[in-house]
Amino acid sequence: MAKTTLTTSGGAPVPSNNTSETAGPRGPVLMQDYQLLEKLAHQNRERIPERTVHAKGWGLQGKFTVTKDITKYTCAKLFSKVGNSCEVLSRWSTVAGEQGAADAERDVRGFSLKFYTEDGNWDMVGNNTPVFFVRDAYKFPDFIHTQKRHPKTNLRSPEAMFDFWAAQPECVHQVTILMSDRGIPVNPAHMNGYGSHTYSMWNAQGERVWVKFHFKTQQGHKHYTNAEAETLIGKTRESYQEDLVNMIETGNHPKWTFYIQVMPEKDAETAGFNPFDLTKVWPHGDYPLIEVGELEMNQVPENYWSHVENAAYSPSNKVPGIGYSPDKMLQARVFSYADAHRYRLGTHYEALPANAPKSDVHHYHKDGSMRFFPPQTGHVDAYYEPNQYAEAAVADPSVAEPPLAISGDADRYVQEDADADYVQPRALYAEVMDQGERDRLHHNMAAAMGPCSESVTERWLAVLKRVHPDYEAGVRRALKEAGDVNAVPVTDETPQHANEPAK
Ligand code: NDP
Ligand code: HEM
Repeated sequence: MAKTTLTTSGGAPVPSNNTSETAGPRGPVLMQDYQLLEKLAHQNRERIPERTVHAKGWGLQGKFTVTKDITKYTCAKLFSKVGNSCEVLSRWSTVAGEQGAADAERDVRGFSLKFYTEDGNWDMVGNNTPVFFVRDAYKFPDFIHTQKRHPKTNLRSPEAMFDFWAAQPECVHQVTILMSDRGIPVNPAHMNGYGSHTYSMWNAQGERVWVKFHFKTQQGHKHYTNAEAETLIGKTRESYQEDLVNMIETGNHPKWTFYIQVMPEKDAETAGFNPFDLTKVWPHGDYPLIEVGELEMNQVPENYWSHVENAAYSPSNKVPGIGYSPDKMLQARVFSYADAHRYRLGTHYEALPANAPKSDVHHYHKDGSMRFFPPQTGHVDAYYEPNQYAEAAVADPSVAEPPLAISGDADRYVQEDADADYVQPRALYAEVMDQGERDRLHHNMAAAMGPCSESVTERWLAVLKRVHPDYEAGVRRALKEAGDVNAVPVTDETPQHANEPAK
């Protein structure tokens, strides 16, 4: 078969792709060898900013199928019929590491799904944990600074991490999960995904419910211990990508069952806890899991760059029938992601192949970087709205969310009951984990804290003591076993948490 002719980006045939044009056989390169300049210039532009968080990631393409009827909760077209399906793009990630970070590091994993529905893209941008470290967006950039490199040493800083956490008792739930067995999944196929926030759904009658999203692995949970992960990273830093490619190539497609928890709109006022607090779960006993469908990831994207690196997920991508909630963190994320994409990818990032909806798109956004697609307003003269053209795109009031009653004085409200922050981590520690899991938790945490100063160590141990005395004692013991000299007993003088109201 004849080979394809190599061309310039302008389409003209190229005479050579390996020998520069020079003045004589040993002479300098001529400036008119534009293809060489072009080739070097392109190489210089092959990188864009990496994601400020979740920079290291792995993605697959697949399909979501509805298996149960939830039309009493939502009018979203995707869920209108059992058997409905749509294409999905997943991206899993670690949070703190840079693009070259090893896959098997202890960290929270991102769990992003883009559902290309007939009504536009619905993005579920979650984590492999049902809760988060903080519940106010003011704290997010500071939290991330503690996870990234120290400005002077350019090293990760356990002192900064535990200093911050010790001042935020609300984070102990998430830190417990992070330091538990689930902190290093073997690969994304062996972990759950959670929307974490409370979202909403509304049905054809305009009735709203609050919902939580859960994607439960059908492969079962599998995790590495610290020692196993260290050995593995010594052999390969890309274990997740290798596992996922191998799984797909051997026809072993990972699957998840999608469930929702549902809370009637009015229950939010009487639930006994704040259902919009991202540091809390909704107990399964009170809000059981309701099966919705199955996610199957079955293809490695042809090009990692165009489908995984260029993927732009955002909680602001929602479809009629699915909505936000008053969760303050969610409100901030609605802004933050699209802003990040405009910076990282460009103004019209949604036209890139990974992000382009599979449904019709009609909008009046005009010009700017990456505006290579034709006008999409339904009529060539309709580049503004309102206009006189019958075919031009107009808004459809029938897809509006039902009105939400909100009351209260505008103010800055600090969490009223700090004790509540210890209840759920206590249940996880004392009731969900067995003794083996608790022992590993103690040692994992001690390993992470090892280099911390005495004051940070003691402040953090005081937080653990309020979760459960055995938790504090177990971590203190593990610190001693590891030879950490800072581990002295907690006394009544141990400082209170900076953000906790005085008792
Ligand atoms: P349940 O006994 O009904 O649920 C316990 C949950 O804990 C299960 O979903 C299980 O996940 C999960 N789990 C087990 N080990 C870990 C771990 N190391 N890290 C994170 N999750 C783990 O009890 P409740 O609903 O009353 O919740 C009790 C506690 O369980 C909560 O305070 C919370 O800490 C934790 N939890 C609760 C979740 C919820 O949505 N209610 C979700 C996840 C955790 P799986 O079934 O996949 O094995
Ligand atoms: C990525 C901000 C909380 C999950 C990102 C990015 C930003 C960001 C700016 C990079 C986006 C990009 O460049 O593509 C924030 C802010 C938060 C917050 C401001 C709080 C106020 C959360 C929470 C979750 C989460 C609570 C999970 C429940 C993710 C995931 C990604 C991500 C999964 C990677 C998306 C991908 O795969 O491309 N976040 N985040 N974030 N965040 Fe958050």
